[in-house]
Amino acid sequence: MCGIVGYAGNRDALAIIIGGLESLEYRGYDSAGVSVYEGGKVDTTRATGKLIELKKALEGRKRSGIASLGIGHTRWATHGRPTETNAHPHTAGRVSLIHNGIIENYLPLRAMLEAKGCTFLSETDTEVAAHLLNTLLAEGFEPLEAMRKMCAQVKGSYAFLAIDSKHPDRVLVAKNSTPIIIGKGDGENLIASDIPAVLQHTRRVIVLEDGDLAQVTADAVYIENQGKEVRRKEETIAWDPITAQKGGFKHFMLKEIYDQSRVIGDTLRGRISEHDASVKLPELETLRDKASSIKRIVMVACGTAWHACLEGKFFLEEFAGIPCEVDYASEFRYRSGLIDKDTLVIAVSQSGETLDTLGALEAASGKGMTLAICNVVGASICRKAEMVVYTHAGPEISVASTKAFTTQLVALQLLALFLAEARGTMSVAARRHVLHAMVELPAALSQTLKVDGEVSSVAKRFFQARDFLFLGRGRCYPIALEGALKLKEISYIHAEGYPAGEMKHGPIALIDESMPVVMVLQREKPLFEKTLSNLKEVEARGARVLVVTDATEEDLRGVHAEGLIRVPFVAHELSPILLNVPLQMLAYHVAVLNGTDVDLPRNLAKSVTVE
Ligand code: G6P
Repeated sequence: MCGIVGYAGNRDALAIIIGGLESLEYRGYDSAGVSVYEGGKVDTTRATGKLIELKKALEGRKRSGIASLGIGHTRWATHGRPTETNAHPHTAGRVSLIHNGIIENYLPLRAMLEAKGCTFLSETDTEVAAHLLNTLLAEGFEPLEAMRKMCAQVKGSYAFLAIDSKHPDRVLVAKNSTPIIIGKGDGENLIASDIPAVLQHTRRVIVLEDGDLAQVTADAVYIENQGKEVRRKEETIAWDPITAQKGGFKHFMLKEIYDQSRVIGDTLRGRISEHDASVKLPELETLRDKASSIKRIVMVACGTAWHACLEGKFFLEEFAGIPCEVDYASEFRYRSGLIDKDTLVIAVSQSGETLDTLGALEAASGKGMTLAICNVVGASICRKAEMVVYTHAGPEISVASTKAFTTQLVALQLLALFLAEARGTMSVAARRHVLHAMVELPAALSQTLKVDGEVSSVAKRFFQARDFLFLGRGRCYPIALEGALKLKEISYIHAEGYPAGEMKHGPIALIDESMPVVMVLQREKPLFEKTLSNLKEVEARGARVLVVTDATEEDLRGVHAEGLIRVPFVAHELSPILLNVPLQMLAYHVAVLNGTDVDLPRNLAKSVTVE
């Protein structure tokens, strides 16, 4: 998500920090800022928009010598709009502080600090950390001790960098669940959220671990964990700058597939409580009161987000007991849709800028209740909707959507559970069962990533095919559609997704020995047996079958497939999220073998802002 760069040394911190932030621009951001120690004081400059705006703001500032210490940030908004006041660094008394991550308990902390007389200027969760640290320093704690005490009070994920104007020789660092590295130089040291930001200056890198606190000066790096000094291994990075931006992966798409375990965690963080089997979505409090009056849900979206809606329909109908329709935004916007005040219209969009989805939302505004599920804070669709639930996938760079889709499914599950609780349509035990499985989902997804090697071998056997059929039933049907879309988007091979039971009404005529059929097979009964019958029908016509399933080996006895990919099982409701991953990988490897431009496929755009 956001980018972080810090510097301690004898060269100009300002130029080095801006250069470092520029090398992180690929991550996407909507505001930026720096704090530097120069001429005996700390100066902070922030601006909305791109780094060019920050540079313009800095040009107007009189410089007094060379800055020897500083921290800089590019912010991708999560809590609060992308405004100058919400941009980092946040300042409080002696402290300037930047943060990547999410502070879950920021509301009680903010109330506690306000009661002590602190004045807050922003809408962010981060500002509490700046005030908390400043309060501790004012109480007389040494900088590192104050940082230690501050982190003990903060719940959530963070990479913090802070400067104390009374100790302008050091940058204080803390890490928990959010990456941070230290680049070691000669007579200077750098700190950054990602390796590309330091590569121009050094290739010697230390990767901090969860719970690490560090104090970085020009000549020394001190690291501790749980109050004791620790030594972390120094690595030498051989990557070129572009590979580094991709985290060492060949393409952004592959990196984003591998990011999925982490971003599921980011989307769930602070939102579920297993203890009382509840979902915490404070952004939907007004909906809680109206939940029992909702008679119908209409979901609108385009592309991959439309597939997320098809999957979301299962959760919303099953959990919350509300009839649910899914429409292409481009179709919905030009018909009446019979929306009334008891209809909840949900627009799902990664970018929040897709013109048809925005148009559909506009068509529903003023008639029904409107809610957006979106990945970009403050995007047009979020401004138009009455309520917003954000996914926390971070910037998605590859045109083909992967991690955004996964977090859309997670957000829709959260929404369905929230409505189920408010409407009393699901028992506490049933909610707890699903929530428990959701907690296990990030680890199950990490486990699923291990099938990559097998999928890559399967791709080598299938990549020359000219047509593919993807089949699935029930919850696996939207996944079959998404698998087909991914393949055609990036490999330009014709692929069709179909409900397996509907295959005999048309697509079966296409099946012969040259046609690979990808069968998405969930172990849940009775559809498991029904899909197996469809598999037999396909086999009987000589098709080359690839099965992607969460079933056990025993369940699969008697299944003869050219390729068989198994993913872990967590819960029937969550299986589609895991079953989708091998299909993303299949599309990726087939595209690579066909030599297409994986991240920038022909004719496609990441954000479609035309009709
Ligand atoms: C484009 C992208 C797709 C995306 C669709 C909807 O077609 O290439 O990956 O699914 O737009 O985008 P949205 O930002 O609204 O989710």
